Amino acid sequence: MSVQDRIRYTSLHSRLMSAEQAATLIDNNANVGMSGFTGASYPKVLPKAIADFARSEHAAGRPYKINVWTGASTAPECDGALAEAHAINQRLPFNTDRHMRQEINNGDVNFIDMHLSHVAQQAWFGFLGHMHVAIIEVLGITEDGHLIPSTAIGNNQTWLDMADKVILEINTGLPIQMEGMHDIPMDNAIPPHRKPINMTRADDRIGEKYLKVDLNKIAAIVESNAPDRDNVFSEPDDKSKQIAAYIVDFLSHEIKKGRLPKEMLPIQSGVGNVANAVLAGLLTGPFENLYGYTEVLQDGMLDLIRAGKMATASATAISLSAKAFQDFADNIDFYRERIILRPQEISNHPELVRRLGIIGMNSMIEADIYGNINSTHVMGTSMMNGIGGSGDFARNSFLNFFVTPSTAKDDKISCIVPMVSHVDHTEHDTQIIVTEQGLADLRGLAPRQRAKVMIEKCAHPDYRDQLQDYYDRALQTAKGIHTPHILTEALSWHEQFLKTGSMKM
Ligand code: COA
Repeated sequence: MSVQDRIRYTSLHSRLMSAEQAATLIDNNANVGMSGFTGASYPKVLPKAIADFARSEHAAGRPYKINVWTGASTAPECDGALAEAHAINQRLPFNTDRHMRQEINNGDVNFIDMHLSHVAQQAWFGFLGHMHVAIIEVLGITEDGHLIPSTAIGNNQTWLDMADKVILEINTGLPIQMEGMHDIPMDNAIPPHRKPINMTRADDRIGEKYLKVDLNKIAAIVESNAPDRDNVFSEPDDKSKQIAAYIVDFLSHEIKKGRLPKEMLPIQSGVGNVANAVLAGLLTGPFENLYGYTEVLQDGMLDLIRAGKMATASATAISLSAKAFQDFADNIDFYRERIILRPQEISNHPELVRRLGIIGMNSMIEADIYGNINSTHVMGTSMMNGIGGSGDFARNSFLNFFVTPSTAKDDKISCIVPMVSHVDHTEHDTQIIVTEQGLADLRGLAPRQRAKVMIEKCAHPDYRDQLQDYYDRALQTAKGIHTPHILTEALSWHEQFLKTGSMKM
């Protein structure tokens, strides 16, 4: 189907232009809202054109940088291209691109790491500034001038509403048959005018199937024809399989104890290999008729739907490997009945996460013996990806799991440390921490009790004695022993790794 066929509102054909022409519509210092969430639905051709434009401006001695706000991460041809051209001043709220990460960590990009459910509302509150341009990938435009969303919704409706002008990328390479899969509430009221969100089930639909835009704001329409990022997952290794097995056992135990309904509660699963492995564990687990209420639908969740283990999944983005995407595209009528894509402020909304009783599972970088979690900063100062939606789910879930292998970098790093080098999720939020060594159920435990369980269950044997020694000395020497610490030593494991390349004493 040609791009003209996808623009059913035919008077908009006249706004078709090249990406190079469209890029010149974006001024230096502009705040630009882009589509894009975990490698899905990011603009495929505009970012390169903007990067080329930035280079030509720089070569002519003129400054050119823009501020880019998205839903979450994009891909090398978006974040990567813009970072390599030094075309970004400010970036929010999440990034996984290697080049952009370098720019962030060398201080060239001001990165604002935000809870993903907060982004749209903070934009509406006026906390982030004025939005000049929105660049949104869509699959087509209906006869009524509504936009058929692509593989992610993210913050797109907010950007379309707020921006002075809109550039649409129509991606003819993604299946138009996704039409009808989306659910977009149009209410963006801010306090004190907000109403309760009218959802009591993970598969409720409360909105419209299309994005809406004031057609007068459409400054350009550009064609693209490219797949989303290929989100390749490694086959679950033994450690991931072990972590998954602990979680499946634990959930079965909770059902037996009557603390969890036998039909389970909706599942949220974070990004990354370990999270995907946990979903693979559920595939062979005893649970049936599961529901997904998550941020990103990865391969593992698609497998659960295909196998009939999961009835429906709600997310804001579909981020699949190329192989899984082919299955999705080949069986789109089947999946359209079972997948709902929503704006990220709905997929991650604390009100809904708490009401629906979500079971949250997220990966982390490190945990400390009291259950504080670092999801974002390597060795306390270098940004990895961002907090993403982990905080939206962790604080409000019915049950939350944080998972990691007990060590990193060939066992040179212990992922269980005396004190985390950055805190994303505090001990007040975290419940169950799992490594391949075991599962620490911290619910209802005070800090000294937590430390005992964390060291016994989660620490790698190479570091267990070292942690116990730290804890014992802290207990003897700290002034108050509610949460025993030796303040001059609490971060010494990280310091030692930076000096010697190993945390082993
Ligand atoms: N110290 C230093 N580096 C560490 C580490 C630690 N304690 N633990 C892990 N790492 C490194 C790994 O060695 C690996 O490095 P590499 O890329 O050079 O190989 C990298 O971090 C990723 O680790 P991995 O074990 O493969 O984990 P992952 O793919 O499951 O990702 C997070 C883990 C924490 C980075 C990722 O889940 C994340 O960004 N989370 C925050 C956002 C989030 O939770 N979103 C979901 C909400 S819906």
